[in-house]
Amino acid sequence: MNKHLKMDERQSDVLADMAQGTVGRELARSEGPLKVSGRAVYAAESGDGTEAVGVLVRATIANGRVASIDAGDALALEGVLRVITDSRMVRRPAQGTANGAPAQDTSQVDHFGQPVALVVADTFEQARHAAHLLDIRYGVETADIDPETAREVETPEGKRLEQGAFDTAMDDAAASIDAIYTTPSQSAAPMEPHAALARWDGDRLTLHGAYQMLKYNRNELADALGIHPDNVRIVSRYVGGGFGSKLGIGPEAVAAAIAARAIGRPVRVVMSRAQVFEMTSRRSETWQRVRLAADRDGRLTAIGHDARVSNLPGEAFSEPVQIATHFLYGGASRHYETRIARLNRTCAGSMRAPGEAVGMLALENAMDELAHHLGLDPVELRLRNIPERHPENGKPFSSRGLADCLTTGADLFGWNRRNTRPGAKREGEWLVGLGMASAARSNILSEAQARVRLNTDGTATVETDMTDIGTGTYSILGQVAGEMLGLAPEDVTVELGDTAFPPGSGSGGSWGAGSVGSAVFLACQDLRAALAARLGCDPGEMTLKDGVATVSNRQTRLSDLVDEAMEATGHIEPGDTKQEMQQAAFGAHFAEVAVNSVTGETRVRRMLGVFAAGRILNLKTARSQCFGGMIFGIGAALTENLVHDPRDGHVVNRDLAEYHIPVNLDVPRLDVAFLEERDPWANPIQTKGIGELGISGAGAAVTNAIFNATGIRVRDYPVTLDKLL
Ligand code: MOS
Repeated sequence: MNKHLKMDERQSDVLADMAQGTVGRELARSEGPLKVSGRAVYAAESGDGTEAVGVLVRATIANGRVASIDAGDALALEGVLRVITDSRMVRRPAQGTANGAPAQDTSQVDHFGQPVALVVADTFEQARHAAHLLDIRYGVETADIDPETAREVETPEGKRLEQGAFDTAMDDAAASIDAIYTTPSQSAAPMEPHAALARWDGDRLTLHGAYQMLKYNRNELADALGIHPDNVRIVSRYVGGGFGSKLGIGPEAVAAAIAARAIGRPVRVVMSRAQVFEMTSRRSETWQRVRLAADRDGRLTAIGHDARVSNLPGEAFSEPVQIATHFLYGGASRHYETRIARLNRTCAGSMRAPGEAVGMLALENAMDELAHHLGLDPVELRLRNIPERHPENGKPFSSRGLADCLTTGADLFGWNRRNTRPGAKREGEWLVGLGMASAARSNILSEAQARVRLNTDGTATVETDMTDIGTGTYSILGQVAGEMLGLAPEDVTVELGDTAFPPGSGSGGSWGAGSVGSAVFLACQDLRAALAARLGCDPGEMTLKDGVATVSNRQTRLSDLVDEAMEATGHIEPGDTKQEMQQAAFGAHFAEVAVNSVTGETRVRRMLGVFAAGRILNLKTARSQCFGGMIFGIGAALTENLVHDPRDGHVVNRDLAEYHIPVNLDVPRLDVAFLEERDPWANPIQTKGIGELGISGAGAAVTNAIFNATGIRVRDYPVTLDKLL
């Protein structure tokens, strides 16, 4: 059985009558005990100990060519098996949405830290030592490290938009803001380093790796190696965080595969922590100019959002800084332009909420400036500027809880206790203030398939190559299947992260739960129809609960009904509604900070996020996603800054001691509330993405609170203490 739905019409609330009561519940992650007891096997641990170990070797110039590599001393060491400089190995981190970046000429170096070789040995220590003995000679060329002085800055096709009479609106405004905001490069810095273990059986490759989007990753790897995707299997059962840096395969995957083939033995390649910072994609630094024009009542008449971001020469990706600005607020006249500086820094790619995460730091900071300028409450300013329809293309919104999130959040947080005069509240050395910001993140449906099997013992199994990158996919897919089939969570087994299963959506763009959850839902609808047929009724006349089917007063155990395993595959695809409706999840962030007037140190005291993101499948995992996003927001506001040395572009702070993500002491009590919402246009299970909603706007709430506390408006992120003294 195969149920295929092209999502091109509104879906009625199909889960509403379900009897099991599993969907939406606050359930702990089903795989949690395996993780905390060390029994969940991650990519780097997936071998049996007999595999050889590869260590990647980096380039130590920013731009130029590898003239020669003398591996004589390295190869003379005991245990060293091979030094590989295969040109297929060196590839930029792909974005995970295409068939991968083209293979490059290995001798070309375009950033410091780029892998140029792999040393393979019996043990890690031998390989690492040998890696230091490679004698690499370069032909050095002039590099561009600094976006301010880059020789090549372009405005690509489609990165300019002008609507209405922008300059006139700015000139005629009762109040206006014209300010420059900057954000630094950031690193996804997932806890699990990028890792791959490759094993060949004849022409068939099995790669255990840490990736987000297996159906694409398989094609990328096949493409890089020049083999057919049917000969590639990728397994990623557990992934220790990705945040975009594992959307595509990296050099570790290709290098491990090439090496394993070359030496006829499985090979494991695990990046060191430093290599994660130097070899995986970063979020681009941004320069943003935000212009706002408003009438006397605080209604926007114009919005301008220009940006300069960067990437390596030839790379197509550019941080989509204005993504939320396009639809969040009204204003008839609009202006956007993005320039891309070509730099010899690490490759820029998607990092959690590409676009909104940094774009909203600027936009929501500027909105706070405008509110202050107008003497208007920042919540009220936002409420006055929620547009009827998308202000540029006129599309209606599929669902939008922004106003409710703003007012509910203000109530819950005690926003009315805020001092409107900055710097007015002091507790000893500490200046205390409140700030807020809107949250918005576009919602996307991505093609996905999942197979569900109803077993003869009345349990069910879900199979898809979908990944769980720490987000709770194992739990929510079990909940959707359990709800549909009337089974308790423990009676549904979820198998993920293996390209041997039907292709899911992958984890990216916050589309995972809605997309693959819908595929599971469709498969279960098919199974329900088949069960109803066996019972001689319509699916609507049958109730499934606790492993029992009830029709009128007749009860049948599923284990009695299923004499031979029944299987169905659900398949969802985006359809026309994607073009017709503006889909996004919304929210509001509120923060209280204290800034020490002597040291300049900022402590976030409490934070609240209120979100409207369609149906919430699991209250606990959804809330945890939002906590994670808000913590990312605190990091973006106060600490995160990936520093490239201006002389040669090397990453200066390439470990977690120097690249400052918030630690427990930096994170106060966080509260998250979800508004009841269904989005019938989004997908059959009516969810919207939340993985990236929590970060969108979060950092601006913190910096706006800093302004309220101190009267100091910092536009250069992160707001380190030197900027407040
Ligand atoms: Mo996300 S940056 O699409 O993993």
